[in-house]
Amino acid sequence: MNSFIASSTRILVGILGLAALGRANPVAHNAATATMSAAVSATSSSVLTTATPGAPVSPKVVIIANEFEFGYLEAYNFTTVYTGPLFDQVFACTTNGTICKLACGQELVAASQITSLLLIPGIDLTKSYIIITGTGGVNPKYGTAGGAAISTFGIQWEWGDMFLGADLPTNFSGQYFSSYAQLSPDKYPVTVGTEVYKLNDALVDRFYKVGRKVLYEDVSSFLQDLRATYEYDAARQSPFLSRCDTVSSQIYWHGSVAGENVEYYSNIITTGHARPCNTNEDDQGRLLGLFLGAVHKKIDFGRVAMIKAFSNFDRPPPQLTAYQSRFYVGEAATGPGLRNSWNTIIAVVDDVLKHWKPIYEAGIKPTTYMGDLYGTLGGTCDFSLPANAAPGSVQGS
Ligand SMILES: *[C@@H]1O[C@H](CO)[C@@H](O)[C@H](O)[C@H]1NC(C)=O
Ligand SMILES: *[C@@H]1O[C@H](CO)[C@@H](O)[C@H](O)[C@H]1NC(C)=O
Ligand SMILES: *[C@@H]1O[C@H](CO)[C@@H](O)[C@H](O)[C@H]1NC(C)=O
Repeated sequence: MNSFIASSTRILVGILGLAALGRANPVAHNAATATMSAAVSATSSSVLTTATPGAPVSPKVVIIANEFEFGYLEAYNFTTVYTGPLFDQVFACTTNGTICKLACGQELVAASQITSLLLIPGIDLTKSYIIITGTGGVNPKYGTAGGAAISTFGIQWEWGDMFLGADLPTNFSGQYFSSYAQLSPDKYPVTVGTEVYKLNDALVDRFYKVGRKVLYEDVSSFLQDLRATYEYDAARQSPFLSRCDTVSSQIYWHGSVAGENVEYYSNIITTGHARPCNTNEDDQGRLLGLFLGAVHKKIDFGRVAMIKAFSNFDRPPPQLTAYQSRFYVGEAATGPGLRNSWNTIIAVVDDVLKHWKPIYEAGIKPTTYMGDLYGTLGGTCDFSLPANAAPGSVQGS
């Protein structure tokens, strides 16, 4: 291990003690979110009002992140709070009802929170552009810490079986197992549920074109030195907006072994269509809650987008171990990453508001398949293959 990195890392941990709270998988976030109950972000000094139960609101934009991440967004004053049965999160809108935020939890928790949000009388999200944001780790092949990504695919891999170490059959050479028996890891797996969602490619195109014009701030000189030691060109750049995909799970992974496994699985499950770059513990539950809403016509899935900050790399450069990289470099790019991704989102929101009548109100039609693996919203999935469990296995014929 490079001693420059070691000492700088110690300094960094000291200096960025607070920034380290900006984890992609924070226990601290959940605790903070829970204790904030109905209080809205302390960043706004505006007067807060609680809407009368049933009061109508039909926002043009809804932004989803956790409370900590909203602390970095100063462009809007969310002044009106909406409440409803079973809903214990913060849903707050600008005074004119145009832009709202949902400050919620992660993964499974977020799915139930979004479901209860969609059941609040008066809240109409059928025409809302819903932007899932927050932080995640970046695959150094596709992006760099402090940058951001806009994604077409949301993938989760935890509906699988796991064998570790010597228990792995040798022909799987370290790859995770899918839920049902596969003869080899390159076979398309039998899926259990909604392992993948594909968003509206045309909306991603438009948001990417708008977002890539935003000027990004750079990371600290320590992180600039660190990124120069990665093997991949994308990692060595100053922060930029990547166009690549999100993989999320209840477990936050880190390191080259896990990273390569996740990439391998993502490529199999999307037949090579995904570019897996953003690892987090948030998004699949959020997509799941929104997708259920779309199935029941409470939202338009063609208006859902994911724009996430890169708070850290998902694996170490060659001179660090995964442990050092995860726990001593940590999420050191959280601040610049969030500021850059919020600026991207602000540009996108401006575009939505400015072009509402001619473009956004009616919606932007996807040019390829959009939805889950099973064509639930209509159409035929264009990134999956038929699959059968291995003959003779428990689930095979
Ligand atoms: C938010 O509200 C505060 C207090 O009323 C005001 O000072 C600030 O300018 C507002 N910010 C925006 C972006 O409107
Ligand atoms: C509503 O408020 C937002 C945020 O303050 C602002 O950007 C937008 O222009 C307003 N929209 C209208 C229609 O007044
Ligand atoms: C891989 O190993 C498993 C477990 O030993 C075995 O059942 C399977 O047939 C092997 N697959 C191939 C393609 O050799």
